[in-house]
Amino acid sequence: MNFTIGNKQSSLVGVDISSTSVKLLELSRTKSGYRIESYAVEPLPANAVNEKSLQDVEAVGEAVKRALKRSGSKRKFAAVAVPSAMVITKVIQMPDSLKPSELEAQIQLEADQYIPYSLDEVNLDHQIIGPCEHQPGANDILLVASRSENVEERTAACEIGGLSAKVVDIEPYTIEHTCKLLQEQNNVDWQGKTIAVLDMGATMTSLCVFRNNALVYTREQPFGGKQLTEEIMRRFGLSYEDAGRVKRVGGLPDNYEPEILTPFKDQMVQQANRFLQFFFSADNNDYVDQILLAGGCAGIPGIAELIEDHIGTPTSIANPFENIETASGVAQQRLLSDGPAMLIACGLATRGFD
Ligand SMILES: Nc1ncnc2c1ncn2[C@@H]1O[C@H](COP(=O)(O)OP(=O)(O)OP(=O)(O)O)[C@@H](O)[C@H]1O
Ligand SMILES: [Mg+2]
Repeated sequence: MNFTIGNKQSSLVGVDISSTSVKLLELSRTKSGYRIESYAVEPLPANAVNEKSLQDVEAVGEAVKRALKRSGSKRKFAAVAVPSAMVITKVIQMPDSLKPSELEAQIQLEADQYIPYSLDEVNLDHQIIGPCEHQPGANDILLVASRSENVEERTAACEIGGLSAKVVDIEPYTIEHTCKLLQEQNNVDWQGKTIAVLDMGATMTSLCVFRNNALVYTREQPFGGKQLTEEIMRRFGLSYEDAGRVKRVGGLPDNYEPEILTPFKDQMVQQANRFLQFFFSADNNDYVDQILLAGGCAGIPGIAELIEDHIGTPTSIANPFENIETASGVAQQRLLSDGPAMLIACGLATRGFD
């Protein structure tokens, strides 16, 4: 699902604007899958993005510019995503006899009944889901709307960074695209399966559940690695930057693991469990086939095993940068460890090949 601005372009870079960084990824299509042409993760200054809203569009734009430069990508167009919390979705019914242009016109006429904003303040898109079960001759149509300011602050940041945003997607739907890539890359098939993708980032954790490869549930709550960073700062008197770095590369005193890291890992397990319970109660069901762990917190050694042991569901790390070709100029050093945090950027980067 996307708000497509202008025509689709095959020469896109995916740009994920998260709370801590701008993540940029350029892919190309190969015979057997995808190749990484370039990528960069550029940190954002504190408070540039707060609760997914761009507080300082200029600072985000400058980070996009640095990311683009450091990646070396020559592409001019971008795909960006808005978080699901900034999006209203509604399933409506329309006659299946309508031609695409008639459907479009009818939706424009009726949409204001379903959307609590004036239509000139929103970006609106729709997708035909398929025949309506309860109404012969009608299709279920998914309506998606977001206030234009949510879309515009992202496209404006890209513009400052030297990229023209051509595709605006919605975060959970970008992960749907990444799931396709993960299956292709790893030669697996999730048809008939229920897969829970749990992304634990810096400030937010999100769960997307896919059944038969379609998104059936999504939820987002504040929890993330920033809490661990802040605890490290407090306990060891480190700056935010230093605390963030030692978390990845190590070098903290012996009491770090038992006193700080272990309790945080336990919190991650509890969060994973809570998120699944939310899904189970919404779904009237108590089963997922697999948990895929993503986001920067997936980099904590042993965390997938710990979650699997406690919850009893097979758990592994989602890494789109595993088993993927890379162009010769791409720095290999952090590639594999950055992968799990690149799910949104990755889904966006594939949008040029729809
Ligand atoms: N190897 C690692 N071990 C522990 N923590 C890590 C590791 N790598 C990254 N992190 C932590 O992961 C977090 C960043 O993850 P990610 O890039 O997924 O977040 P984000 O997408 O920027 O944030 P959000 O989704 O909340 O807006 C930071 O808190 C960072 O310290
Ligand atoms: Mg994130």
